[in-house]
Amino acid sequence: MRNFKIDLGEDGIALVAFDVPGRSMNTLSDSVIADLPLLIARIRDDSAIRGVVIYSCKDTGFCAGADLGDLGRRVGTPIAPNPTPDVFRQMETCGKPIACALEGVALGGGLEFALGCHYRVAADSPKVKLGVPEVTVGLMPGAGGTQRLPRLIGVAKALPLLLEGHPVGAREALDLHIVDAIVAPGETLQAARRWAAECTDPTAPWDRKGYALPGGLPYSPAGMQTFTLANAMLHKRTYGNFPGPENVLKAVYEGVQVPMDAALRIEANYFALTFATPQARAMVHSMFLARQALAKGGEWAGKAKPPTRVAVIGAGMMGAGIAYTQAARGMETVLIDVDLAAAEKGKAHARGLVNKRVAKRRMTQVAADQLLDRITPATDYAAIGDAELVIEAVFENLDLKREVIRRIEAAAPSALVGSNTSTLPITSLSEASARPQDVVGIHFFSPVDRMELVEVIRGDSTSDEAVARAVAYAVALGKLPIVVNDSRGSFTSRCFGTYLHEGMEMLAEGVPPALIENAGRMTGMPRGPLEIADDVALDLALSVEEQTQAMLGDAYVAGPSAGLLRALVSAGRLGRKSAAGFYDYPEGGSKMLWPGLRTLPGVAADAIHPDVEECKRRLLYRQAVEAARCFDQGVVTDPRSADVGAILATGFPSWAGGPLRYIDMLGAARFVAECDAFVELFGPRFAPPPGLRHMAAEGRSYHAPAEPAEPRAIKVA
Ligand code: NAI
Repeated sequence: MRNFKIDLGEDGIALVAFDVPGRSMNTLSDSVIADLPLLIARIRDDSAIRGVVIYSCKDTGFCAGADLGDLGRRVGTPIAPNPTPDVFRQMETCGKPIACALEGVALGGGLEFALGCHYRVAADSPKVKLGVPEVTVGLMPGAGGTQRLPRLIGVAKALPLLLEGHPVGAREALDLHIVDAIVAPGETLQAARRWAAECTDPTAPWDRKGYALPGGLPYSPAGMQTFTLANAMLHKRTYGNFPGPENVLKAVYEGVQVPMDAALRIEANYFALTFATPQARAMVHSMFLARQALAKGGEWAGKAKPPTRVAVIGAGMMGAGIAYTQAARGMETVLIDVDLAAAEKGKAHARGLVNKRVAKRRMTQVAADQLLDRITPATDYAAIGDAELVIEAVFENLDLKREVIRRIEAAAPSALVGSNTSTLPITSLSEASARPQDVVGIHFFSPVDRMELVEVIRGDSTSDEAVARAVAYAVALGKLPIVVNDSRGSFTSRCFGTYLHEGMEMLAEGVPPALIENAGRMTGMPRGPLEIADDVALDLALSVEEQTQAMLGDAYVAGPSAGLLRALVSAGRLGRKSAAGFYDYPEGGSKMLWPGLRTLPGVAADAIHPDVEECKRRLLYRQAVEAARCFDQGVVTDPRSADVGAILATGFPSWAGGPLRYIDMLGAARFVAECDAFVELFGPRFAPPPGLRHMAAEGRSYHAPAEPAEPRAIKVA
């Protein structure tokens, strides 16, 4: 065995160290999966072994679950039979007591490994996180989790863990009876050993005579209520877009009614179905593998050092958020605004955030004070001093930003200059600069402390070094950077803008607004297009539209959105902020679509009722075509960045893995054909770009296709 070491004590208790060589964290890699049958055979067959304690040698914890790097190549194809559930079952029924010591995380297959043991003891430590997060990457538990968890804690308590994938801490795990005991950190091994030495009946509860499922079986009154509600709630949340949680629900419903061995076969069946779906492939790659690689800086990883001193110009909503995020990561921050009151107000934002954390006991007062000490409000650009990076976050105005850049360069002749502009091309800003190679877009999203994505925008003159430094800065902030090239509107706002536009196009055609909004939500977008337009603010949306028109000149393709927005804005309907926009926002009540929408100029007099599936496709295809155009134009060059960026910035549906993976999922040829049909029906905005047409003609895709399971693995069956 490469990954397990057995140390047999004189008391007959075998201490099994789980330690995958060369890795900071244990996973159920192909190599571990190959070791497991050997481990269990040794435990079962060695008569000197009376009991077993399994523990991890890693500081990070017990095991993070399946190795998605290994699975990533195969996901999306029929899976070769997986021996792990059988091995865990053999472990459970081997007749010897097996305990598991949990000092840190046990997630996915890692928790399923622990659940196959007869006893679990966890450290009373914030490092302990136990959960089955498979659904968050498009999969489902496939090593007994859907069967042991409900049998252990009851269906009603197990379903939220299985369907939502949130982990629980040690104390919650004890309350739920997922672990049998918690002890001080560092003492789990001894506690587990004592239990193993004293245990006289190493039988899982469900293998004992008279076992009853906690909370009752699915056809009991309580069980019926649980499943009916769970089904409805799942559909409300996912609109049937995710095979993973749906198959979890089926596996639990069917599995808890039969003995464990049959139940594990039911789970294996649903696992295989889930694993072969294109959604599983899309999610494992975008939500895990690409996300993990990009969070380390992607192809720019390690090419520059992050700054330690950063100045922020403009202490408004964004500048204040950036200052807080930097200070939270230990960066000395100067926060400059036009007067000291404005700069202090920016710092007060950070104070508000840390006070909340202190109140919730997530932060000590000392740490809070240290964080605030790192933010120095100022008005004089001389305060920039020796900052290595200066970020401007002043009003979105080209002349003002150019002036600010000149002043930054005068005060800090060698600092990298970052702009948080959301719409202005970096190249046009850097025209004001004496060293345009050092000017780079660093586009945060609101609220800065919570949004994971940062778009690093490279202007025509921006140097590689400037890009590398901006990426290193974003990584040091704990953000996920994507690098994009300059264009009118950043990559993410271009894709996202099309969603709002298409909603307005439909409105103008006479599609009922409720249908538009529901179709949007049913695609998996977080909200309907009109609702989001209201949140963005309709006057802002109009001004972006007008600027785009001015900049594009004859190339501007007029749609109904500018007219609709102008009519709403001139009626004082500015969106949520004025309590009136596409929606009405009655005080104390829930918002509702404004009945006057049908009377706006440009909206067809007669309502039409298209098929909801067609509406959904329009809303997704528009975004995907725009992403494909950005790729064609070199605005984004790494398909992973396009996909992860769209998911994190604007909520593009994760089940599709992002806009370019969505095209791969449909097949480029089919996507192009359907877009061509939409061009005929709705106009040239659906026209696929030439690069995508070539790709379709040559049968290529943006991302590598799945590799079928290896013949070796199939032979095991
Ligand atoms: P804001 O209006 O809240 O703040 C702008 C701040 O800049 C104000 O405090 C103002 O006093 C200050 N300011 C103006 N001129 C200045 C000067 N010469 N020197 C120093 N400070 C000056 O605006 P917000 O929302 O924070 O936006 C700032 C930038 O971030 C804009 O470029 C915007 O497009 C961009 N952005 C905004 C996002 C949002 O969701 N609001 C998202 C991403 C980017």
